[in-house]
Amino acid sequence: MVNTAANAVTNVKLNKFEKFKAVKDGLDVKDELEYFAKIGWEAVDDTDLKQRLKWLGIFFRPVTPGKFMLRMRMPHGVLSSYKLRVLAEIVQRYGDEGSGDITTRQNIQLRGIRLEDVPAIFQQLQDAGMTSVQSGMDNVRNITGSPVSGIDADELIDTQGLVIKVQDMITGNGEGNYAFTNLPRKFNIAIEGGRDNSIHAEINDIAFVPAYREGTLGFNVVVGGFFSAKRCEAAIPLHAWVPPNDDVIELCRAILLVYRDHGLRANRQKSRLMWLIDEWGLDKFRAEVEQVFGQPLLSAAPKDEMDWDKRDHIGIHAQKQSGLNYVGLHVPVGRLQAEEMFDLARLAEVYGSGELRLTVEQNIIVPNIPDSRLETFLQEPLLKKFSIAPAPLTRSLVSCTGSRFCDFALVETKQQALGLAQLLDTELTLNQPVRVHWTGCPNSCGQPQVADIGFMGTKTRKNGKTVEAVDIYMGGKVGKDAHLGERVRQAVPCDELKDVLKALLIEHFNAEPQNGLVANGSTPG
Ligand code: HEM
Ligand code: SF4
Repeated sequence: MVNTAANAVTNVKLNKFEKFKAVKDGLDVKDELEYFAKIGWEAVDDTDLKQRLKWLGIFFRPVTPGKFMLRMRMPHGVLSSYKLRVLAEIVQRYGDEGSGDITTRQNIQLRGIRLEDVPAIFQQLQDAGMTSVQSGMDNVRNITGSPVSGIDADELIDTQGLVIKVQDMITGNGEGNYAFTNLPRKFNIAIEGGRDNSIHAEINDIAFVPAYREGTLGFNVVVGGFFSAKRCEAAIPLHAWVPPNDDVIELCRAILLVYRDHGLRANRQKSRLMWLIDEWGLDKFRAEVEQVFGQPLLSAAPKDEMDWDKRDHIGIHAQKQSGLNYVGLHVPVGRLQAEEMFDLARLAEVYGSGELRLTVEQNIIVPNIPDSRLETFLQEPLLKKFSIAPAPLTRSLVSCTGSRFCDFALVETKQQALGLAQLLDTELTLNQPVRVHWTGCPNSCGQPQVADIGFMGTKTRKNGKTVEAVDIYMGGKVGKDAHLGERVRQAVPCDELKDVLKALLIEHFNAEPQNGLVANGSTPG
């Protein structure tokens, strides 16, 4: 199918991104990879290097020029030990500079990649049934689903097959699909089949959430959720219900086509799907979608079935399959080294079925471990680092990339976040989970708005010097009745953060100073 999106925007004043997309589609660089690899990154056209390569998931990182980030697609966050080993082999060749980050879209980003290696890497990925196509810029991001789909005793719909079909539709089975490579902006899709809204339905452009309509189980549909530096909106009901079959795929297609052909393209700050819904009104938007869908949309079910608090899946959990367990391992701020990826692949094979799952909390689940193997599994040395019972603040920590690799960042995030959480875990007793999210700049990739306490990087002046600081968000609620948190404090210097966070935890989350406890949280003696 040939891209028609550019035709749809001819009468609109185009921003610079629209202009370069009109000159040459981002996906076109897939035919030039061999050439780029040969001439070296310094000689590649600037727009191809810094923008169009993102259509293939290849991110030029100005902080580490020549060492690229490769953003995969991991539909539903499900992967095999074989796939993880392939990814480990890829980053292993870069030594200390290579690593993998689990992201808040159940995805993996590989670091340290050299452009000259990319043709061979893409061949390896293809052979292993993986792709990174259309994972950056104005494309549909990794599609998320409950990380315990198919193994959760309480799940309503196993969504794994649907997620894969939606990805295949959008990416042309991973080959690249020009029908969807020129959206007005990025686009997020999630399909929830469980009761605990594990995928943050409210922050996706389209989310399917389980709901019974006249006794039949299917999905209510919400649309338009997004974050940006200037505006954050929770998704709103489309007032539509679909059965859990190919209608899900067709409805995604219809919404994407309406967005592609009518979404606003003049101002990139106002081009996410919600801006079109605002401009048209929901009724017109729904009517246009219905027309492209090609059949009447059924009205929504009166209520959805997401009635649980959100789980984090860490620890040992019995599966719906009798005698089997899934074990959630905590991966501190989502960062994996090559050896750890190899080791995880081994654990999945030796103790489970070879499958692994990624979570939006940047952690990893090893499913299908028989009761009889659990005890030996828990003795594995890797579990000392990737704990099944981390201390409370460390357990719920999420962080975006930050200044170590991202040029937008105003602060270092992952190390600072981890250091602070670990320190306060030794100084405070918390009897309830507190989800702390860090994001390095207002782009909000680390989603501070869904956290109990969110930190957004900024700069401030202190003693006549510019220093790293954060704006503080509070009140984000996830799971049932999810809603977004709001900024409560501005520009707190990072070197004052320990005391500020400690006070917030004591005042709002009943934390108690740990008197008489030693640093590792156990009682002395
Ligand atoms: C103009 C706005 C934005 C820009 C320029 C931007 C840019 C980036 C960049 C450069 C990275 C990769 C950094 C690295 O790891 O080296 C990244 C990652 C990421 N961003 Fe953003 N971002 C924006 C908004 C958002 C928003 C609103 C969200 C959703 C809450 C988001 C979600 C993510 C996620 C989940 C990742 C990790 C990779 C993945 O997609 O799986 N971003 N972003
Ligand atoms: S929030 Fe900012 S610093 Fe963090 S990954 Fe996104 S763009 Fe980079």
